[in-house]
Formats: sequence, structure tokens, C-alpha cells
Amino acid sequence: MPAMIMDGRAVAGRIKEEAAARAQRLAGAGIIPHLAVVLVGEDPASQVYVRNKENACRKAGIRSTVIRLPEDCGQDALVRTICELNADEGVHGILVQLPLPEDMDEQAILRLIDPDKDVDGFHPMNVGRLASGQSGFVPCTPLGVMRMLEAYDIAVEGKHAVVIGRSHIVGKPMAMLLLNESATVTVCHSKTKNLAEITRQADILVAAVGRAGFVTADMVKPGAVVVDVGINRVDGVLTGDVTPEAAQKAGYLTPVPGGVGQMTIAMLLHNTLDAAQRRGK
Ligand code: GUN
Repeated sequence: MPAMIMDGRAVAGRIKEEAAARAQRLAGAGIIPHLAVVLVGEDPASQVYVRNKENACRKAGIRSTVIRLPEDCGQDALVRTICELNADEGVHGILVQLPLPEDMDEQAILRLIDPDKDVDGFHPMNVGRLASGQSGFVPCTPLGVMRMLEAYDIAVEGKHAVVIGRSHIVGKPMAMLLLNESATVTVCHSKTKNLAEITRQADILVAAVGRAGFVTADMVKPGAVVVDVGINRVDGVLTGDVTPEAAQKAGYLTPVPGGVGQMTIAMLLHNTLDAAQRRGK
């Protein structure tokens, strides 16, 4: 039997509706939630992501401001921008779109963002909070994956979850979230030996590799939950990290497009509203 396709659009749609209702309640209390997005340079993919974020904010009644800096602006200009946004009482969330130009120190920049405005959850303070099981901002994509599993009543406790990828944006926080929910977690990466042997043991398999078709059907245990975080462009077509044939093996599968990508933006709205709400207290 082919896999149940997990509908990210539908689940994210419900979260976006909740977000709009929350934004309206905050507005009623005199707080207009406000997200500032900083985009350095002209990377085409980043421009699309930022536009999508702006549109989602507008629809939810969240104010968004995009600060565009030229590719060659230099790190000092970016530092000044972040300091201004940190000091601005009217800005609740700050997001610096990644990747940054190569001459910039990404970690130094992320460390500068006020942890209470860090809606991406990339500041070491929030990374530490997640690692130690304390509440804080959690990166949007892995948080979206957890919400997707929840929406389909997929229990995590005691399951073997295998995460392929160890990025700061997805793989590591994903592993932490699954571990915090009492899964047994294995993290695989480019140096992992006998990868397929490990992935075939996964009850929940999260693919966050960034290579189209990397996860083939023979790597999937029959009936497994397969979460495809990949966003790859092949001849202009959006494709995930998982081959379509895997749908014949998996029990559940997130599609690309229409899966996890939709959840990422919904969780950004959620985090921005959390930031605005905390500030209002
Ligand atoms: N670039 C790709 N994904 C992300 C993300 O989740 N946040 C930011 N800031 N940049 C990204």
C-alpha cells in the first residue's frame, strides 16, 4: 500500500489561521507583532524565501520589514543594522536570512541578535536552551516537522528516529527535539558508514541532506514515517531528498513541495507571535 501523504499545506494552513487569530488578539491589546528580516545580497533562492515570509506575515496580520543590504556592504554595516533592530522596541522578531556572503562571520552575526528576538532559534543561548530541555526559540523547520508528526498522531516516544544531516538549521535541532520527546535518535551525515543499514532501522526517517533523490526506496523500512526536508531544484523543478519510489515502502511521507516547507513559514509566524507576546508581558 502506498504511503499516506502528509499534507503540509493543510496543517500549515491551520497553524496560519491560529497565528492570524493570535495576531488580532495582540493588536486588540495594542501590540502589532513585527518581524524584521535582513537580507544581504541578491541570492535568488533567498529572495524567494524572504518574499514568501513577507507574504505570510501580511496574510496573518503581522507587520514585516525587510532590510536589504548590498552583497559588499561589509560586516560592520550588518552589525549596525542588527544593533538598531535589537534596540528598537517596536521590533519583536529578527531574522537574518542565510547564507551570508562568504566574507562575513555567520556565527558572530547570529550571536549578536537579542536572544529574545531570535525567532530563528540560531543564537547560542537558544541552541543551549533546546539542548538542555528549557523553553526558548526553536528553529522553524525542525519545529514544523514535530508539529507535522503531531498533526498525524505519530507518537515519537520510544521510536528509532534517524536524522540524515547535521546542520545547525535542521539536523542538530531536529535530533534534539526528537530526543526531548524520548525517541532513540541516530544522526547520520556524509561520513557515516553503512548508511542504508542504519536508515533501514528507522521508524522515523528525516532526510535533510540537500541532495535530490538521495534517499532511495531500499533505504526505507516498510511502513516507516519518512520526512523529506530537502528543497532541491532539478532543471527548475522543486524536488526533495527522497525518491518518489520511496512512497511504495513508507507508511507516511511528506511531499516536496507541499510538505515541510509549508510548515517552516507557519512556525516562523508562531515564533514571531511568541516573541511579541513575551514582550507585551
Ligand atoms: N536559509 C535557509 N533556511 C533558513 C532559515 O530557516 N532561516 C534563515 N534565517 N535562513 C535560512
